[in-house]
Amino acid sequence: MTLSPAHLLQLPADLDRQLLPHHVAVVMDGNGRWAQKRGLPRSLGHRQGVLALKELLRCCDDWGIPALTAYAFSTENWGRAHEEVDFLMTLFEQVLWQELEEMVQQGVRIQFAGQLSALPTSLQDTILHAVESTRQNQGICLTVALNYGGRQEILQACRSIATLVQQGLLHPDQIDEALFSQFLYTTGLSDPDLLIRTSGEMRISNFLLWQMAYTEQYFTPILWPDFDRAAFHEALLSYQSRQRRFGK
Ligand code: FPP
Repeated sequence: MTLSPAHLLQLPADLDRQLLPHHVAVVMDGNGRWAQKRGLPRSLGHRQGVLALKELLRCCDDWGIPALTAYAFSTENWGRAHEEVDFLMTLFEQVLWQELEEMVQQGVRIQFAGQLSALPTSLQDTILHAVESTRQNQGICLTVALNYGGRQEILQACRSIATLVQQGLLHPDQIDEALFSQFLYTTGLSDPDLLIRTSGEMRISNFLLWQMAYTEQYFTPILWPDFDRAAFHEALLSYQSRQRRFGK
């Protein structure tokens, strides 16, 4: 992978620093098609997708965007071929080990959103280690949505709240948006300002259903492994051209 030219490390002059999103969420779609177009196995598309995510993380860090959330594996992705699911689980583990030292040095705080208990135990251990090792970091917050489903997340929040009500620890009148948010995987994280989905698909696909009530959406035909700084710059220009009214 080629390194970005020095001028791209700076925030491009046509972007307004005051109007940058605080939290960007990405649906990294098109890895398989990227590989197929080149006559390569899908697995190589996913490997290349990791590089694109790394570069986006660096770019957010360089340009002063404090939070990035990436949809790495959905609750529906278990329906893929066994070989691909196994490959992805191994890839997540490998990447976390490989990148951990650099993340620690760069001040990245990594956290996860999803039902982690259903993941292979060695991956769960790696996740715990990565989260613990970066917990005190003060830099960009990377949230990886892994075995994540928006409806499942809302249901588990409802179950937890219902249990507290049943135990007499909470009154139904106390359940408001702020309280509900505390029971989601993303507790403590602001809602995404911008969602980017690559590969021309224009769906939310069960991603951050609660959190994206007022998120600006940006869809691009670029396949995820080709999504680079220039493409992110375009997405930010589109974001900054919009008027966010939050229904007012
Ligand atoms: C969607 O493309 C991509 C995925 C399901 C996997 C994305 C995962 C990564 C990029 C690895 C990230 C690694 C870590 C540790 C966070 P697709 O397979 O649906 O592509 P297609 O629609 O062209 O088939």
